[in-house]
Amino acid sequence: MIPILKKNRKKELILPKHIAIIMDGNGRWAKKKALPRTAGHTFGASNFKTIAKYCSKIGVKYLTVYAFSTENWKRPEEEVNSLMLLFKEYLKEALSDFQDENIRVKVLGDKSAFSEELQELILNVEEASKNKDGMVLNIAMNYGARSEIIRAVKLLVNEVQSGNISIDSITEEMFSKKMYTEDQPDPDLIIRTGGEYRLSNFLLWQSAYSEYVILNVLWPDFKTKDIDDAIEKYSNRNRRFGGI
Ligand code: FPP
Repeated sequence: MIPILKKNRKKELILPKHIAIIMDGNGRWAKKKALPRTAGHTFGASNFKTIAKYCSKIGVKYLTVYAFSTENWKRPEEEVNSLMLLFKEYLKEALSDFQDENIRVKVLGDKSAFSEELQELILNVEEASKNKDGMVLNIAMNYGARSEIIRAVKLLVNEVQSGNISIDSITEEMFSKKMYTEDQPDPDLIIRTGGEYRLSNFLLWQSAYSEYVILNVLWPDFKTKDIDDAIEKYSNRNRRFGGI
């Protein structure tokens, strides 16, 4: 039991090992305040940093955030550019002050679509944090679960064709290892802000037995207390994984 989570809570809480978050609602948050959508993303990025640090502090082992989907390229150029700028700023920050945090950063998704500068920053941050043994922070960027599954199929077909494995030997575990999340455990808890009840092409393979908490809060308004509340809800769920 993590003491920080115990305050004012009656029951022992179960801390999920892996939390995944769909950070939705930046645009609506900005609209409500008569601000441009890009301002919503700026506040959203700042909130992401607060929440990531909090999750690390309370002992979450893996945190996966959905920062940019393969479909988000369809947004207006100005919005895409402002998101790319926020990613760059965050990664630069991660390389300097973030050194004190015991967080390992990993980017999930097809990095080849990003500018050279952004690709280099991603590689540098992944490399600089690779020996950290605290929380693993997966940032899903240019990520789409369907293309992740196709990628896994191609990797396995390649191994079959090169004679390393036989088709009949392919297992779920082998398939999981071909996902961007590789050896990581599947998410126990998926939180979606913004109130929509859908997965939006996020972690389709890994979420087979995840518990969902959907909140009506817009992402920039999501607070550390909302994490505590989601963990409390998760703790009250009866996970049976298909058993009884
Ligand atoms: C969905 O809200 C949010 C996104 C597409 C971007 C999420 C990105 C961040 C929170 C910034 C992350 C920053 C870093 C550094 C990882 P929306 O724009 O679709 O909101 P809406 O549904 O209200 O329009």
